[in-house]
Amino acid sequence: MNTDPVLLNDWHPVALSQEIVAGAIAATDLLDMRLALWRDSGGALHAWEDRCPHRGTRLSMGALHGDTLRCAYHGWSFGSEGRCQHIPALPALGAASLKAQVATYHVRECYGLVWVCLGEPATATPPRFPEFADPALRKVWCGPYDVQSSGPRIVENFLDMAHFAFVHEGILGVQEQAAIASYTIENFDDVDYGSGVWAKQCRAWQPQASKAATGGADIEYTYRVVRPLTAVLTKHPAASVREAIALMLQPLTETTTRVWIILALDDFTSGDDELRQFQDTIFLQDRPILESQSPARLPLIPGAEVSVACDRMSLAYRGYLKQQDLRYGVLRNDQETT
Ligand code: FES
Ligand code: CO
Repeated sequence: MNTDPVLLNDWHPVALSQEIVAGAIAATDLLDMRLALWRDSGGALHAWEDRCPHRGTRLSMGALHGDTLRCAYHGWSFGSEGRCQHIPALPALGAASLKAQVATYHVRECYGLVWVCLGEPATATPPRFPEFADPALRKVWCGPYDVQSSGPRIVENFLDMAHFAFVHEGILGVQEQAAIASYTIENFDDVDYGSGVWAKQCRAWQPQASKAATGGADIEYTYRVVRPLTAVLTKHPAASVREAIALMLQPLTETTTRVWIILALDDFTSGDDELRQFQDTIFLQDRPILESQSPARLPLIPGAEVSVACDRMSLAYRGYLKQQDLRYGVLRNDQETT
């Protein structure tokens, strides 16, 4: 069981809102925990430990009867607060004498996704992504993509420009122009964006910077890390397409991760499927690289990997994780190597 307080008290995306419909129970994983998600007749969401307190059966194998969930094994019924209300084998027992209680978690909807916090939420809302509220930008949900790697390795890949010319050759880069110009790093604390680390003036020559691009262009990016497992890339306003790409990760275990991507962009010509396919192409090029990295957990140990000047965003991210005191999905000097 994971006990990293940073991630326990953080919000994590666990499903598309529209996929959690009344009458059905969905199962997913978060931080080594099995979760059952369901929506009651009033539309409210419930996130429960997917484990019956009687004999540990997955509650998601059960069925909803109105707003009570009935376990598949012995038919115990649980009300929407998770409290056992009825035991079919002992029908005479009144509700007051039933003590069994399912573990329930904080849940909310935001950005078209369902978010869960397993502990006490450190913030009232999921990570800031103000571009989502911009009516001039259209929203497209990509993925989710499952990756056999840690969340921090995936965020670091998202922040990395030096791989474009190799992993995404012909789309996001070309080998003849692989040089990375200098860029700046800032810590920020902003009413709209929250707080975190910002990389600005990141530039690359991109043959096909987006679905709508009709030729190569010099693209300027900013990246901002707003939580240990959330980052947003924005393209400079002068780019032909105004676009923000939010990477929001669901840590299933320390080394398996579900990747949710939301695009907010002003390309109203391409179809949703075309935009998704473009993102799929890019992400599926990254995945085998990510799954090959060893160790799968991101080393925060000085000297464990060799870094150069253009890795300064990656180093800033590692510094941010240390400052946040993240322990899950990373390797640290002071950690037992179990
Ligand atoms: Fe769920 Fe027995 S295991 S009712
Ligand atoms: Co990539």
